[in-house]
Amino acid sequence: MCGIVGYIGKEQVAPILLDGLARLEYRGYDSAGVAVYSQKKQALCVHKAKGRLQVLSDMLRGGAAVDGTVGIGHTRWATHGAPSDVNSHPQVSQSGRIAVVHNGIIENYAELKSFLMSKGVEFTSQTDTEVVAQLIDYFYQGDLLEAVGRVLHRIQGAYALGILCADAPDQLIAVRKDSPLILGYGEGCNFLASDVTAIIKYTRDVVYMEDGELAVLTREGIQCYNHLMQPIEKEISHVDWEIDAAEKGGYEHFMFKEIMEQPEAMRRCIFPRIRDGEVYLEDFGLDESYIRSMSKIYIVACGSSYHVGMVGKYNLERLTRKNVEVSLASEFRYMDPIVDDHTLVIVISQSGETLDTMAALREAKRLGARILSIVNVVGSSIARESDVVLYTWAGPEIAVATTKAYSTQMAVLDLLGLWFARVLGTVEEKEYRSVLEEMLLLPGKMETILANKDNIQYLASQYFNHDSVFFIGRNVDYALGLEGSLKLKEISYIHSEAYASGELKHGTISLIEDGTLVVALGTYSKLFEKAMSNVVEVKSRGADVLALATESHAEEMGKTADAVMTIPDTHDLLLPSLGVVPLQLFAYYVALMRGCDIDKPRNLAKSVTVE
Ligand code: AGP
Repeated sequence: MCGIVGYIGKEQVAPILLDGLARLEYRGYDSAGVAVYSQKKQALCVHKAKGRLQVLSDMLRGGAAVDGTVGIGHTRWATHGAPSDVNSHPQVSQSGRIAVVHNGIIENYAELKSFLMSKGVEFTSQTDTEVVAQLIDYFYQGDLLEAVGRVLHRIQGAYALGILCADAPDQLIAVRKDSPLILGYGEGCNFLASDVTAIIKYTRDVVYMEDGELAVLTREGIQCYNHLMQPIEKEISHVDWEIDAAEKGGYEHFMFKEIMEQPEAMRRCIFPRIRDGEVYLEDFGLDESYIRSMSKIYIVACGSSYHVGMVGKYNLERLTRKNVEVSLASEFRYMDPIVDDHTLVIVISQSGETLDTMAALREAKRLGARILSIVNVVGSSIARESDVVLYTWAGPEIAVATTKAYSTQMAVLDLLGLWFARVLGTVEEKEYRSVLEEMLLLPGKMETILANKDNIQYLASQYFNHDSVFFIGRNVDYALGLEGSLKLKEISYIHSEAYASGELKHGTISLIEDGTLVVALGTYSKLFEKAMSNVVEVKSRGADVLALATESHAEEMGKTADAVMTIPDTHDLLLPSLGVVPLQLFAYYVALMRGCDIDKPRNLAKSVTVE
């Protein structure tokens, strides 16, 4: 995934582009570049560099070294072509006339490249994006929009494009297909960007482009077109969250800020949805007769969102007595899934732009399923293609490693399960009330855990040098272990795996030896004794055991485990919502002690919009 930004107006553009790219770096950060039309030189000036954005910013003296009031910028997560100066964007045509920034993948770039080379076009990079710039130039005969339209009939894949032409410096062109792109409306200036964070400092009036749409941006305004190149009018949305929500606010890392924000995020997510002891789901588009007719629920997602689904399987089946399947989105789309018009597919995604998840959504829709999505980014692609959307209201999540989005997704899924169970009559009144009461207490209980973060920091200092870690658990503790393991892997680079405790003895226990670190999750009360026996099992083979237990079981667990992280007691359904917090903190502190780049881990990006 990459970040793109563009501006046309009266101000010097380079500082605006660099500022926007700084807010998009979480989308990709192995190289960056800008293309600006210089009034003085009457030409396109392209500046780009491998490495973090700071390298480019230093090269341009914060933008002061570049003159011009129209330009495009890009921060890259490499797909085609290793990170390098020449593979950085903007990519420019051979004539130097066309500059393009791109987020996505051009799947048929090889044959297009061969075609152009057969026409004598010379390429300089290994990127798929350069093909777009060269092809626009190949078709350009004085009308940029017309040339772009011809190119769009020939390229296949996912793309958000920003295009600048030296012969038409009073316009920018934006194109969107499968990769997010928004337009920003200013006073005498206009913007294009991958997401709102890049331009909210300048305008809150935005348009979310749909697939197949184009736009021509000038200083006077923006004209949008559909895929038939017919002019269309788009509804302007007003963004209402504060810019500091997308800034560190004094914390060292976005990840730590977002861990600490979880109680507040959970209040925003839960409290409006529990009224007078009943679950209240806003503008809910599934009527009760459909819910009763549901034959199956499929949960489809990637990464941590998939891990939310793994917890959701246990909880939703327990609450609704409906069959719940959980599938990795990248598998779902190719496994010929058993889906019909009585299948509800729940799509979970923080960004709402993950390409695998979007593709799975479209496959499910094609098979006749109803689509309910649980999303954090308002107006995102997945949200807009769903039949029903439940937002997590977690606020902007910038760190690549998700935290508050995970916990609020879980809360939404629990509320959904309770609502279904109420309609289906599969939950007793007493339990229904008890869970809702406990949900309202979750933010405060999270604050209790966060207040003891120093204990987790101390434990991390004891264990940060391990090179392999096992997370074991049963039932919801196993599902929680998947997330604990991913958090640790993705920011500390320590190899780790999550294992169902009961499965360990069927092979993998052979890896347990003196000093192996095992994080044993034993919060699920009904299987606590089993959890204890698994701790004994690995201890007897030399493991160091760091356990997770509720306060009521901590003392018992402490008799065998080497150390115990505790969470307040709560209803069994809600244990992962609390249990994930110590695991997030543990991963964070371990990565901190290992000197890792916590907000921008190597090889990763915040939302993966490529296959
Ligand atoms: C989680 O920490 C990772 N950043 C990653 O697994 C992420 O959850 C996954 O890519 C799905 O992203 P989404 O929720 O935005 O769809």
